[in-house]
Amino acid sequence: MTRQPGNPNRRRPFDMLRERIAENLATIKAAGLWRQLEPWPYPADSFHGQFASNDYLALRAHPKVLEAFHQGLQKWGAGSGASPLVVGYSNAHHELTEQLADWLGFDRVLLFSSGYAANQGVLQTLQSVGAVPILDRFAHASLYDGIKTLPVHRFKHNELSDAKTKITSVKAQMPEGTPLLVSEGVFSMDGDSAPIAGLSALVRQQNGLLFIDDAHGVGVTGERGRGAMDSRGSDGIDILSGTFGKAFGLGGAFVASDQQICDYMVQKCRHLIYSTAFTGAQAMAIQASLGVIQAEPERRGMLTRNISRFRDYAAQLQLRLLPSSTPIQPLVIGTSELALRLSHALRTENIRCIAMRPPTVAKGTERLRFTLSAGHTETDIDALFSALVRIFHQDKELHEACVVR
Ligand SMILES: Cc1ncc(COP(=O)(O)O)c(C=O)c1O
Repeated sequence: MTRQPGNPNRRRPFDMLRERIAENLATIKAAGLWRQLEPWPYPADSFHGQFASNDYLALRAHPKVLEAFHQGLQKWGAGSGASPLVVGYSNAHHELTEQLADWLGFDRVLLFSSGYAANQGVLQTLQSVGAVPILDRFAHASLYDGIKTLPVHRFKHNELSDAKTKITSVKAQMPEGTPLLVSEGVFSMDGDSAPIAGLSALVRQQNGLLFIDDAHGVGVTGERGRGAMDSRGSDGIDILSGTFGKAFGLGGAFVASDQQICDYMVQKCRHLIYSTAFTGAQAMAIQASLGVIQAEPERRGMLTRNISRFRDYAAQLQLRLLPSSTPIQPLVIGTSELALRLSHALRTENIRCIAMRPPTVAKGTERLRFTLSAGHTETDIDALFSALVRIFHQDKELHEACVVR
């Protein structure tokens, strides 16, 4: 870094920026909120000692998915070569959109490079024509980051009466606006689900729209594995987003909606228009994943059994688990320091589970988020609880923080 000539003491804005960064880094560290990238060295099919991934159905290493990817690479190459509206949208992409639309019961599906981009894209595009998003307070960061104008309108988590109050207030403030209720099929930090039937009824009654991000639900929950689309009231969902990065075991994302909204997104959605498409090979692998999700319901059965086994052990230890029936099983501990302590203690037992701290979760609700997969064996879950028993035996304070009071 060079200083400007003439006045060696003159500080450039760049120096000030560096100082502010240094101050912020020091604050983050002092608060116990430091995040760091740590390589995970084990292969994709190894779930032993790993309770942190979103590969809920163990499809990341499924032979059919890998085979389709290999074939796709030969046919479509390692990259798509362009954005979707140029030449990045192959027949494989198109087939995938048709299969998803058919399976989920929507007119049409659009593909995105990530769920983060898809959520931002939907919200930003619809706000430009008068949609006013009203978010469940626990909505994912990608939904918050799609809000273009402040203040952010939010309703209390899963509370229909508060959602109604917020719609009424938005309508009074912006009579020209259309309320767009935004919630999630499965909440990423709590593992609970939105009351789809109630939200659907509310938006119909209030002449609004309903947007559900089903990143953690699609492929996993519901009788047919269609997540929120298998729940009562799903016909009231106007827009659905989902990622291929979790149950599908790959990456990329989709948005499903009616013909008109999709047409408009294709004209205006910057995240779709100005971004390189994922490769056709990946589209073929996602098709294979979808095929497995449809043809192998027993994978969801294995996952359900693993969740039950996990919860049974947790009940025996009287752990403060949130009431979740999904693969997301949060153990609320209450401080960053203790959550990190448990995560580190598990690490010494060769078990990886990440401490969730602010701003990802609210202060006072710091937690370990255990995630289960169909890929876990009974032995993997037994080993986790044996480790927890050893850890609690040695650290009474930690034990106290983790059990029901
Ligand atoms: C609820 C929710 N929505 C959206 C996303 C973003 O999806 P992606 O990882 O594909 O960007 C995530 C992923 O972390 C999520 O948990």
